[in-house]
Amino acid sequence: MANVTVIGAQWGDEGKGKIVDWLASRADAVVRFQGGHNAGHTLVVGDQVYKLSLLPSGIVTGTLSIIGNGVVLDPWALKSEVAKLESQGVSITPENFALADNCALILPLHRDLDGLRETAAGSGKIGTTGRGIGPAYEDKVGRRAIRVCDLSHLDKMDPQLDRLCAHHDALRAGFGEPPVDRAALVAELKEIADFVLQFAQPVWKRLKKVRKAGARILFEGAQGVLLDVDHGTYPFVTSSNTVSGTAASGSGLGPNSTGFVLGIVKAYTTRVGSGPFPTELDDEAGQRLGERGHEFGTVTGRQRRCGWFDAVLVRQSCAISGVTGIALTKVDVLDGFDKVKICTGYRLRGKIMDYFPAHSADQAEVEPIYEEMDGWHETTAGARSWADLPANAIKYIQRVQELIETPVALVSTSPQREDTILVRDPFLD
Ligand code: IMP
Repeated sequence: MANVTVIGAQWGDEGKGKIVDWLASRADAVVRFQGGHNAGHTLVVGDQVYKLSLLPSGIVTGTLSIIGNGVVLDPWALKSEVAKLESQGVSITPENFALADNCALILPLHRDLDGLRETAAGSGKIGTTGRGIGPAYEDKVGRRAIRVCDLSHLDKMDPQLDRLCAHHDALRAGFGEPPVDRAALVAELKEIADFVLQFAQPVWKRLKKVRKAGARILFEGAQGVLLDVDHGTYPFVTSSNTVSGTAASGSGLGPNSTGFVLGIVKAYTTRVGSGPFPTELDDEAGQRLGERGHEFGTVTGRQRRCGWFDAVLVRQSCAISGVTGIALTKVDVLDGFDKVKICTGYRLRGKIMDYFPAHSADQAEVEPIYEEMDGWHETTAGARSWADLPANAIKYIQRVQELIETPVALVSTSPQREDTILVRDPFLD
């Protein structure tokens, strides 16, 4: 049976939530493999709206939901998300939710450091979500993280805490902050331990079993390829690898398990936080995209920057992530424009570029080369087949497909699960 890996092919916020929810309803297990509660997914099922940051989208449909080792886990954020969903009638138990016991934790000291560094960074501010994601990944790689499994051995944590506190106390002193209150930290961990541990297990083993039974696994990526710590617009990126390959390393299954790579692509471009954005619009058209697309962050409420579709960036993301097919979302936001534009290349100091350069100064300087197309005035919202779409919308979608050199598998035309044009079913591919 085919598995599917869903990743964002732009700067996150491509509308992954709806597509993942739709796929999750047909999957036997859904796995988050990177990121943390910096992600924000809105799921609309009937008249219910669910907001998820950390839990895999399958949780809403009762599908086995797994947080893999590649995620950084804020246990208090997990607890409050579970409580919120339970108040909406969603049942979350160790039967339908598993958490990797080797997952690194996000602690209050990580949130502190995220904020302190951003405040001190001046013009170098990254515009993080302030959730402590970067500092937690740094501690994981620096081999001083507290992990989920440590919660069952809190009395044996002294060497780990020594390493962690030595590092953080030095940093905190530099920022004029008091040292870590070690006793308070241990007390907080003790209090949350039982809640977290009820879900903890060797997830790789559970996945091995699920896979052996022929189940369909959906790997749910967070953020987008352009926020990848290697391939994104460094340093204005998140601290994890957001590309499809992480589905394997961040869950404990091999690269031959991740299946069809579905890249989620918004019909225009948005970005939150700082960093280069070649097709950004600060005019009426940009404002219109933001208003029609309700472009405000699910996690931080920040207004998203908006711009025309950038085919160069998406072609690059699709290549880097080995995207098999894309799901094109929010086409309806483009309804009503007389003309729509697509970026097909860049000009950098007189030179034509067909890719996005690595250096942030070059990234900031590239000028987009646009192709203009006729827009459409009919509504595409709610379309469920090609026949429901105006001819110019179809031309736009076909041109996108051609320019990014990757086929369209799905077109999403509203936040509702059913409003989808299915070209190629990723699970049956
Ligand atoms: P961090 O992940 O909180 O460290 O933030 C680093 C960058 O990634 C910032 O520009 C954030 O705005 C961006 N970012 C993190 N998570 C998301 C997301 O889920 N959607 C869109 N942008 C995100």
